[in-house]
Amino acid sequence: GKSGYDHFMLKEIHEQPRSLRQCLQGRVDELGGQVELDELAGVNPTSVQFVACGTSYHAALYGARLFQEAGIPAQAFLASEYVTAPPPVDDALVVGVTQSGETADTLSALRAAKRLGARTLGLTNVVGSTVARECDHVLYIRAGPEIGVAASKTFASQLVTLNLFSLAVTDDHDRESIGSLRDLPSTVQEILDDSVAAEVATAYLDADAYFFIGRGLNHPVALEGALKLKEITYRHAEGFAAGELKHGPLALVTDNTPVIAVATGDDEFARKTVGNVKEVEARDAPVIAVTDGQSDIERYADHVLRVPETHPRTAAVLASVQLQLFAYHTAADLGRSIDKPRNLAKSVTVE
Ligand code: F6R
Repeated sequence: GKSGYDHFMLKEIHEQPRSLRQCLQGRVDELGGQVELDELAGVNPTSVQFVACGTSYHAALYGARLFQEAGIPAQAFLASEYVTAPPPVDDALVVGVTQSGETADTLSALRAAKRLGARTLGLTNVVGSTVARECDHVLYIRAGPEIGVAASKTFASQLVTLNLFSLAVTDDHDRESIGSLRDLPSTVQEILDDSVAAEVATAYLDADAYFFIGRGLNHPVALEGALKLKEITYRHAEGFAAGELKHGPLALVTDNTPVIAVATGDDEFARKTVGNVKEVEARDAPVIAVTDGQSDIERYADHVLRVPETHPRTAAVLASVQLQLFAYHTAADLGRSIDKPRNLAKSVTVE
């Protein structure tokens, strides 16, 4: 059942501290300060190609960045596009990111890669799924069953598993990122306890459109925030790389198009996102900042969805929890069919 929640989606959002703990269980060696994934023994990729769809594609974009940051060439592809011109695989590991393990587009991309001689890895939630059976290696995200059609807890578990994956294969012992992953279940709980996303959502029910922006690891977070909102509210939402806003989408920005800007940390890239926010604020767009308070983005924001200060990798996970809540409460206020949005199915088995 829904354990007292109005929708499975809200229940699943609130389950994240537990599902993330489950995802991390036995995979982080605290004493040695390292990640141990027995499933990946002998997996030593010199480059990685991710293939995925929808929310899982956003996780793949995030995963590709983690590998790039570790010095391993990596790229994320939309599975349905990958098959139209599969890139040379050489000795790349091709990774299918798929919650259900049954998505036809992702299966086709993995099969195409296999035909070209690639080794494949399935990153999935479902034991015994087609992807789990067909890939050379499997890495489970261990989120538990997800009933809501719109992915929530499985996205968070994908992000965490991608962290474990990249830390394990690069033999990275960085205590700061490992510690921030270990603490995620409790930092997610802090957000669930304190979020003002419900009040903020209520303020913008009449918006013409919602724009989400972010840079770096927060770019896929922005894309996912927009996808979640459009799926369950049926309102127009788009996610952009923050730097792209001025190359076209800015023409759409008005005083009735809230801009949800994700900026964590205070590095040069966060400061550039703050610069982009100033541009939309000058056009009277309402600004909702998702921030850990390190940059001065709040000066230009009408509302703030706060996340605890942490490592950039985990900040992205926390920011996406705030955006799940924002989408959920907007949809709830609009009276939508949140667990079964119109026209959508939990697993898409046609190409
Ligand atoms: C979004 C959503 C879809 C799926 C996509 C891929 O909330 O549910 O975009 O993410 O259909 O599904 P999987 O991960 O099962 O391959």
